[in-house]
Parts: sequence; structure tokens; C-alpha cells
Amino acid sequence: MQSQTIAVVTGGSAGIGRAVLERFVRAGARGVNLARRPSGLPGVVDLAVDLADPAWENDLPPRLLPLLGGTGPLCLVHNAATLREDTATNLDAASLRAVLELNVVAPAALNRLLDARLVPGSSIIYIGSTLSEIGVPGRASYVTSKHAIVGLMRATCQDLVGRGVTTVAVCPGFTDTEMLRAHLAHDAARLDAARQRSTFGRLIDPDEIADVVAFCARTPVLDGAVLHANLGQKSS
Ligand SMILES: NC(=O)c1ccc[n+]([C@@H]2O[C@H](COP(=O)([O-])OP(=O)(O)OC[C@H]3O[C@@H](n4cnc5c(N)ncnc54)[C@H](OP(=O)(O)O)[C@@H]3O)[C@@H](O)[C@H]2O)c1
Repeated sequence: MQSQTIAVVTGGSAGIGRAVLERFVRAGARGVNLARRPSGLPGVVDLAVDLADPAWENDLPPRLLPLLGGTGPLCLVHNAATLREDTATNLDAASLRAVLELNVVAPAALNRLLDARLVPGSSIIYIGSTLSEIGVPGRASYVTSKHAIVGLMRATCQDLVGRGVTTVAVCPGFTDTEMLRAHLAHDAARLDAARQRSTFGRLIDPDEIADVVAFCARTPVLDGAVLHANLGQKSS
């Protein structure tokens, strides 16, 4: 039986998720991308799935589970997320449900689906955000979902006691991806302002977050930790 690590990454088609997949495959793991678009990475199996549509729970298992044979550790990375502009008092219920579906419910459902495959040495890494522990105006559903991810990680840590599975919430700061650029409306001045929010005066490269994720996945002493990776984000 194969003892190779398998990395299953949601949203591995772009940004941080793609960098994470690339990092694992370079280290000799098998990679599976769960996203609507392919990753285009050699050595990665792309399974097209819309994790915001609960129908995936019926459609995905027959395509995913046969890929997970072998006895090697599984690294499950909950990365896919959506960011909308809304406030705590104008939040539309349907919109909040849609954000929670992708950002929180899909990770929980994937945990349930893959529970039996979490052999000792496996890991579940949640991609949080600086906004997992603080609020900002105008991002109510995102802030809520990113706080919830930390709750789910902490519950994972307590519920998997004795299983030899490491779980960590990795919380990036301003990282140079489609999500950040779209969020800042591709506006040069706003991008520059984001750069100046770090003590290094630049954006984080997705590969830097991928390195942190890979480190967490093989470091059991971090089990239950919330790890900020934000290039020294300034508080004001
Ligand atoms: N960039 C930042 O500054 C920053 C800061 C803090 C936290 N984060 C977190 O980092 C994670 C990755 O963000 P990113 O910046 O790398 O974003 P990104 O470049 O926009 O990538 C988002 C990924 O999520 C996938 N995705 C979105 N909707 C999906 C859906 N309905 N079903 C399946 N996959 C879906 C996308 O794939 P498809 O479009 O192909 O489906 C894409 O691969 C997120 O959890 C985000 O909250 C990012």
C-alpha cells in the first residue's frame, strides 16, 4: 500500500490554495484540488466542484474517495472562501447563508466525509485571516465566518484527541492574490495602502503562506494553535 502523503486542498485553482498544492507536490505528496477551475499543476488531480452548492455532498464522494487509497497521511486544507461587503445591520440572511455555506459548512462536511481517512500523522489546516480574531467595518459575513473557522479548528483539536491528527488555523494577512486585488478593486492606491499595512512594506507572497501551512502540517506541537502569518501587520 502507498504511504505517500495526500494533500486535499479546497480552492487549489488560484492564490494561496494553488501555492499550497504546489508546495506539497514538490515535496513528493499527491495533490487533489477541489475547486470550480483546474489548478493547471502537474501531478495534481483537479475535481471540479462548487463547494457553495450543498449538492456537492452527493456528487463529490464517488469521485474523491477512490483517489484516497493508501496508508499515508492525509493533509486536508480548508482554503476556499468568499469575501463580500456587508455590515452587521444590513446583512441579508440569504447572503450570510451563502458565505457560511462555503467558508464554514463545507469544511465541516469535508471533515465528516474524510474522517475515516485521517490516519495518525494526518492534519487539518484551516485558512483563517487576520479577521479571525478582530473585526473591521463593512465585512460582517466574512469576519463572522473567519471567527467560526477558529471555533471549528478548536473543536477539531478537542474531538480528535488521541488520533494523532494535527489541526491549526493559519491566518494570513494581506496576500497578493485574486481575492485581495478584486477586493481592492484593482486600485493601485489601495494596493499600495495594503502594502504599507505590513512592517515590511509589501504584500505577502502566496508561497510564504504555503510554507507555513506545510510546516504546520508536519508539526504536532502546534495542534490547536491559531497562527498569524501577516508580515507584522501594523495595528493602525
Ligand atoms: N489574499 C488575502 O489577502 C487573504 C488574507 C487573509 C485570508 N485569506 C484567506 O485565504 C484563503 C484563500 O484566499 P486567496 O486570497 O488565495 O483567494 P483567491 O486567489 O481568490 O482563491 C480563492 C480560491 O477559492 C476557490 N473557491 C471560491 N469559491 C469556490 C466555490 N464556490 N467552490 C469551490 N472553490 C471555490 C477558488 O476556486 P474557483 O474559483 O476555481 O472555484 C480559488 O481557488 C481564503 O480562505 C481567504 O479568506 C486571504
